[in-house]
Order: sequence, then C-alpha cells, then structure tokens
Amino acid sequence: MTLTPETQATLLQQARAVLDLNWTGGFTKPALRQYPHQWSWDSAFIALGYARYDQARAEQELRSLFAAQWADGRVPHIVFHDADPAAPYFPGPGFWQIERSPDAPAGRHTSGIVQPPIHATAVLHIVRCAPDRQRTLDFVAEIFPRLAAWHHFLYLRRDPRRENLVYICHPWESGQDNSPLWDAILTRMTLQPQQIPPYRRADTRAVHPDERPLDFDYDRYVYLADFFRQRDYDQARIFTDGCPFLVQDVLFNTLLCQAEQDMAALARLIGTDPDPFTARAAATAAAIEAKLWDEARGMYVNFDLVAGATTPVPALAGFAPLFAGIPDAIRARRLVAYLASPSFGLAPHEPALYPAASYDRLAPGYSPRRYWRGPVWIQMNWLIMHGLARCGFGDHAARLAAAIIALPAIGGFREYFDPETGAGCGAEDFSWTAALLINLLLDDALAHADE
Ligand code: GLC
Repeated sequence: MTLTPETQATLLQQARAVLDLNWTGGFTKPALRQYPHQWSWDSAFIALGYARYDQARAEQELRSLFAAQWADGRVPHIVFHDADPAAPYFPGPGFWQIERSPDAPAGRHTSGIVQPPIHATAVLHIVRCAPDRQRTLDFVAEIFPRLAAWHHFLYLRRDPRRENLVYICHPWESGQDNSPLWDAILTRMTLQPQQIPPYRRADTRAVHPDERPLDFDYDRYVYLADFFRQRDYDQARIFTDGCPFLVQDVLFNTLLCQAEQDMAALARLIGTDPDPFTARAAATAAAIEAKLWDEARGMYVNFDLVAGATTPVPALAGFAPLFAGIPDAIRARRLVAYLASPSFGLAPHEPALYPAASYDRLAPGYSPRRYWRGPVWIQMNWLIMHGLARCGFGDHAARLAAAIIALPAIGGFREYFDPETGAGCGAEDFSWTAALLINLLLDDALAHADE
C-alpha cells in the first residue's frame, strides 16, 4: 500500500500528537496507562523520532534517562520519575528497593536491571540530523562519558569470561519480554509457591489478558527480580550464585556492537581516541559470528550459559546482526532468503502487506496477538529494515519501510500489531510507534527510494 502525500502528512501530524500526549516536559512515557514511567530503550527509539524535528527534546529524552545512571555505569530499564499513584505499575520502586545497592543513584527510583544498549546509536543519529551542530557537539561531550561508562559496565560486569559477548539475566532485559526465546529456560525453573514473593499484576488492567504474558511466565519474572534484589543487585553474586537465567542474547549483543561502532564515530567528533571502541565492536562482531550463528537454520540464535548450549528459536531477533553489518555476504543471503519466505514474508516484490512478525509464522507456538509470540513490532522492523539496506538488500528494505509506514494507517499507533490483519494490539498511543514513523517519514533518503 502506497500512501498519498496527504495521508502521510496526516500521519505525521498524528504521530507528533502522540508524542506530545506522552511527553512530560522532561521525558516521554511509552504509553500513558500501561507504561507510565521512563523506559531505557524506548527513550532511545523515541529520541530517533525527535531527532528529526526537535533537537532539544531528543537530547532531553536521553539526558533524563542518564541522570538516573548507577555509579557502576548501568542504565536502569525503568526510571520512576514522579510515580503517578493514579497509574499503578508493577513492579514499582517499592518492589525493586534499589537502595540495597551501594551503586544505586541516591534519591532516585529505578529498576535494577537493564535494556538493550541502543543509546549511543540514538545520540549519533541526533548529531546527524542536527540543525545546530555546535550545540550538538556540546551535548555529545556531555553524554559521551556516560555512554562510555554504560558500555564499560556491560563488558566488565556482564562478560565475566571475557568472550566479548555480554549476558542478560532477565527476559525484560532483552526488550522482548514474552518471546518464545525464553520458554525453555523459564520452563526449566521449577519453583515452589513460597519462592515467589506475593505480587499483583497491573499489566492486564489496560490491555486484554490474551495479549499479555501468562501468570506462569510472570511468576518467573518476579522470582528473578527478587533473586537480584536479595543479592543487592551485585552482578558478581548474581552470576556465581546460581542465577537460572543467563543468556548471551543476539539482539542485545548486536545493538552493543553497533553502539560501539557509533561510539567510535562520536569519539572522533569530540577529539577522543576511537580505537578502543572500534576494537571492541570488531571483537563482539567476531564473537557473534563464532558463537551465535546456527548453520542448520541459517540464522543467529541465543546462547544459554546455564545449559551451555544454544537455544534455536526462530524469532525475528535472529536476523538483527544485519543491523550492525555483522554477517558476511553468504550468511546475509541466507538470512534474507529466510526473511523473504512465508515465515516472515519480507520478499521485495510480493504484495505482502505487513512488516515481519516477531516469531516465525509457521513455527509451533506462533500466536498472532500474544505479546512477542507473533505480533509485529515497529522497532524490530525498523532495525531489520536498516540492516537490509546496510547489507545490500535495498529493494527488500524499501518494501519493508513502506510496510512500516502503512501500518499505523491501518492499525493505529499501537504497541504491536496482528501480522495477519494489521490490527493494532496492546497499549494505545504508543510512543516508539509514533517516533519511528516520524523517523521514517522525515527520512529524505527513504522518501525518494520508493519513487
Ligand atoms: C514492554 C516491551 C519492552 C518495552 C516496554 C515499554 O515491556 O517488551 O520492550 O521497553 O514494554 O514500552
């Protein structure tokens, strides 16, 4: 579906209205009812939208997130600025109790875990879009040490065996909370009722339970968060004390690899040595190639450090290394052949209507409306689209960009979408859906690619 310029202008206006609705003056909530605080990788994607039309807001979005950075460099996955009692959220500050950690920022409320490190990539994007270059350089100089500390935390604390691959220790850290990627691990966790702290879900108030995780999964999310809390968020203890969830995740490591490449570019801008960043990006790319490629499936898969084995699950995240330019030409062709098959439907010349599902549509357990088990996510497709373009598949990328742009016109600015019908699901007025649409619509290069 190609949209008329008038429809595109209307969409742009609506997208900006969504961001205005969710903007608090200091940061942007992902969605007012469902996610009434600041989320780490959401803010980076949101900044990618603001970068196209409001440099000050783009900078402020990241500045407010990094203001809650921990002393050890970790950037928390949620920052609770002024917790709004009318918008209850679980788990909130009272559950996390981050004050148990000597590294937690004094007087701030945050969670104790992290999300994918796409922030340096967002900062470089802000620089590239900036109308006011001098001002942007000041911003880069301000945020660069914080970004460096964030990456340092990941390599130092999350890669204890020095493999150049960092681990995540909770499904929420992946950003793909309820994906089948975690099923084998969560199912293996047999828990006694007394091991699960009492809690009450808030996520099914605003969104239908059929579109949310099951209680079985939620119990395990809560158990893991409690496991970290009991160890005062000390990474070394969490790692050595038998944490049941330790995963070298494809998407997380890919975004770190790209972020390191982008740190090198930022370092050059402010006259700092780029070489350490370039070297670490190359080392992580090589480690992804060596450890996470699944030759039989023709895609990348996660490595489960507890089981000492890969978890071959056909999720869209398995194609993410295209984004960081990691695969060689042979592997890239295999990835693209799989993406173009009916499993993901990204063939360039077919009238496939919608962006790619988050999980292979022909695989067992595919569920078009349940959170991360099939639905289309805009930010995942945005990453894959850039990966396709970067690795030489311009036609595929242009087709996917057009499908992403068309989706909110069909399903609204929702959190995720049914890959069979385009219908919107999950939270309404969702910030990154709006921000990435703006990012694409105001991308001059793309605007002409389709002509
Ligand atoms: C959900 C998503 C996660 C996102 C958060 C806030 O938890 O799985 O990726 O960051 O919502 O939008």
